[in-house]
Parts: sequence; structure tokens; C-alpha cells
Amino acid sequence: MRQRRVKKRSLFLQLCSNYIFIGAPDQRNPYEQDVKPAGDLPKQPYIKETFKESNGIPVDKPLYLEIGSGKGRFITELAAKNPGSFYLACEGGLNINVRILQKAQELGLDNLKVITEYITIPTEWFPENSLDGIYLNFSDPWPKDRHAHRRLTYHKMLEGYKAVAKPGAVLQFKTDNDDLFEWSLTEFETAGLKTLEISRDLWNSQYAASNIMTEYEEKFGSNGKTINYIKLQLK
Ligand SMILES: C[S@@+](CC[C@H](N)C(=O)[O-])C[C@H]1O[C@@H](n2cnc3c(N)ncnc32)[C@H](O)[C@@H]1O
Repeated sequence: MRQRRVKKRSLFLQLCSNYIFIGAPDQRNPYEQDVKPAGDLPKQPYIKETFKESNGIPVDKPLYLEIGSGKGRFITELAAKNPGSFYLACEGGLNINVRILQKAQELGLDNLKVITEYITIPTEWFPENSLDGIYLNFSDPWPKDRHAHRRLTYHKMLEGYKAVAKPGAVLQFKTDNDDLFEWSLTEFETAGLKTLEISRDLWNSQYAASNIMTEYEEKFGSNGKTINYIKLQLK
């Protein structure tokens, strides 16, 4: 997703710093050597065991993570609808994640933080048993076979999600990309995840009524592309 640089970005980030998840680890990224540093974003030593306390996240609320939130339509709407839960929107794209911050501020959300970096090793970010659910929406397909390990549904990533998930946690995945969906199904099987709900045409399924749209979903779906959807038991 290419975005033009947001003007006065640093000033804006200061103004909505309360929405920025503080304490990104010095992540070693084995897959993306060219990942850009966070630059003007706040950096502090990260102690994953106390990430809730350092971020003002209530310890007694269910906690959900979306990886690859884009401009944040899905996660901000979900957070607005569910004030009893807390949400982490993860988006590594520097000029994209600003859009999530804007939305969170406009909606006055008090149950959402934005992780402004790429998550490639979930266990570096969260302790075991810390998340109630993970959302992957229209994840980058990485179509070349040699890049399969970069897909967010790669079985090693799934093992990472399982490690940080609480018992009973769910993984929800939506994509317009049929090849990625079919490939992911085999990865889910490899990781031993149990399917709870599945549809290859979400908009015309029994799950449509509770569906929250993403930016990509609206774009592809309104052009006639069917949307693949699956919900799995992570642990
Ligand atoms: C194709 S876009 C989809 C955006 C949004 N979910 C939607 O459906 O409209 C995928 C986004 O995921 C982000 N992304 C990819 N890998 C990521 C990772 N490991 N951590 C955080 N963000 C990631 C990209 O920067 C991009 O903005």
C-alpha cells in the first residue's frame, strides 16, 4: 500500500501520542532487511511482561490484535462497538499508520493503541497467554514461492500466534486472494488449528451480518470479487 507522506507527521504524532503503543522492541527482522526505522516515533526499552502496565492497558479486559491494519477502518470500528475490550492495531507502514491514529482520535476511542512497527516475531512482542484473538485482514499475499515465509499465515507465524494466545483465543482471516486462502488452509492444518467458521463468499454468507468491512475489502468486494473468510481456534 503506497501512501504519500503525511505533512507535519511529527507534530501529529506528538498530538496523538496517547494512542501509540510505547516500547517497541529492537526487533531483529530476519525477513525484511530493508525495514525502515521508526524514526520520529517514541522508543523505550520494552519489557513484554509489563506491556499492559506501560501502555495503560487494563489487565482485566480482553485484548485483541490486528496485524496489518492499513488505514484502520476495521479495528477502529470494532473498538468503537466493543468498549469492554481493548484493541491493538499493528501497521508498519509509516504514512499509513497515521490514518489509524487520526481515526482513533476522531472517534475518541479509549480502548485502542497503535503499534507503529512490523510484527514478524509475535513472541518478541507479547508474553505467552496474553491475547484473546488475532485478526489478519487482506494480508500482503507475497505471491512468489520463495517469499512464502513472509506471509502472515505462514505456519511458523501461526506457531507464534499460538504461543501468545490465551486458551480459547481465535484467529480470524479474510482475503480476496483465492490462492493465498487455499495455501493458508494447509498452513492452518499444519499448525493444528481448528476451523470454527468458513466461507468463500463472506458477503453472501450467514456471517455477513456481523462482518466489519476493511478498506481493501470494500474496494475488491464492490468490484465483484468474492471475499474468503475463516475463523479458527488458536488454542
Ligand atoms: C494489503 S494491506 C491491507 C490493509 C487492511 N487490513 C485492509 O484490509 O484494508 C496490508 C497491510 O499490512 C501491513 N503489514 C504487512 N505485514 C505487516 C506486519 N508484519 N506487521 C504490521 N503490518 C504489516 C502493510 O504495511 C499493509 O498496510
